[in-house]
Amino acid sequence: MLPVETSLELREKYSHDWTEDLRFLPDAVALPSTSEELQKVLAYAYERDIPIIPSGGRTGLSGGMLPVYGGWVVSLEKLNRLRRIDTQNLLAVVEAGVITQTLHEAVEAVGLFYPPDPSSRGSCTIGGNIAHNAGGVRAVKYGTTREYVLGLEAFLPDGRPLRTGSATVKNSTGYNLTQLLVGSEGTLAVIHTATLKLLPKPRHVRTLLYGFSDARAAVAAVVEILQNGILPTAIEFMERDAVLFGQAYLGEKLYPGAEEVGGLLLIEVDGTYPETLEAECAEIEKYAFAGGAVRSWYAQTADERERLWKLRRCLGVAVKSSGPYKEEDTVVPRAVLPELLEKVKALGRQYGFRSVCYGHVGDGNLHVNILRDGLDDRAWREEVPKAVEELFRFVVANGGAISGEHGIGWVQRRYMPIQFDPVQLTLMRELKRVFDPKGLLNPGKIFP
Ligand code: LAC
Ligand code: ZN
Repeated sequence: MLPVETSLELREKYSHDWTEDLRFLPDAVALPSTSEELQKVLAYAYERDIPIIPSGGRTGLSGGMLPVYGGWVVSLEKLNRLRRIDTQNLLAVVEAGVITQTLHEAVEAVGLFYPPDPSSRGSCTIGGNIAHNAGGVRAVKYGTTREYVLGLEAFLPDGRPLRTGSATVKNSTGYNLTQLLVGSEGTLAVIHTATLKLLPKPRHVRTLLYGFSDARAAVAAVVEILQNGILPTAIEFMERDAVLFGQAYLGEKLYPGAEEVGGLLLIEVDGTYPETLEAECAEIEKYAFAGGAVRSWYAQTADERERLWKLRRCLGVAVKSSGPYKEEDTVVPRAVLPELLEKVKALGRQYGFRSVCYGHVGDGNLHVNILRDGLDDRAWREEVPKAVEELFRFVVANGGAISGEHGIGWVQRRYMPIQFDPVQLTLMRELKRVFDPKGLLNPGKIFP
């Protein structure tokens, strides 16, 4: 028997992810526990032309797992074995449904480190992270999920197995199918197992928080710090309104006075020797204050660090729980950040919306949350998308991209022609056809 269920309750559970308030009911939900079961589900559905929507932790913010045309959601959550942690070769072989934080804890327990660290780490899965090339807070120094995927095991939509890559940190052998699948958002194949690169766990970490009187000065300081030869693990930004949302959500003021500044930079450094880190912190402090910081907070113990991160970590849910909003995941070369921030606010004045910005500014990645507030239906459906289009045109004209880490999925697909010309889009569509000639895998996603 196939592990497929059709109860309304289950279909409702799998009708949404974390994207806005969107809901699409699938016809059924498949919950395979082994790769063999997964293969059977795929082969069965392929024969009958049933659309398949692969799904992980359903924490996506671009609607990548929404079953927009019905079909079967195939959840990988029961394929959640940590098959192997190889402490000699610094590798892990994990199934797609492993929760990212579970992997973090397992490898850190043996002195190793898996750097990609999305804010949803407690509920997102490695498979979902790979499908979207998730970023998170440590990409400044360690890069995104892509950098850690050495090999994949997947199924083509008809159930044929596809193995890519190797168990090595380098590989110049043929086309890189591994990296083609990373970020393909479940449109080319269903990934079920990954070989991941690990690093030695950094021995020491220090976390710093700076309040700047002005949000623009905060993001401008990013370039100053990196230009002077320090490579932090994380450089995160929160504008004042984001701090207010976070504080309201948490019901506490973690850092008294934080709501009086224009913007915060949360900076983390890691390394082998405490003395080096102290010296780096002192330099960062110098650049921060020279760049307009007016106050600072500092963490040394794990508890203090957790406290500094708590506000930043909750922002996604804090904004989401405040009411309807749209999340735009802009990324630009870092030096453009001050202008990007200004552009967002200027568009807000022009189109009449309020925005809350925060994000991974060390990567040039700014999450722009457009709040619906009192906007009427017409403004929300017709005017705001025009503003988003203008924002994305600005981003692309400045060498950036319309998504830094959340992917295109369902809600951003209409903006793809801003980023790609017809040559690029045609090539992508042709690639899609090679992998999925019947167009059954995650239909309606990525392409305009
Ligand atoms: C974050 C998610 C929204 O950075 O990407 O919190
Ligand atoms: Zn993010």
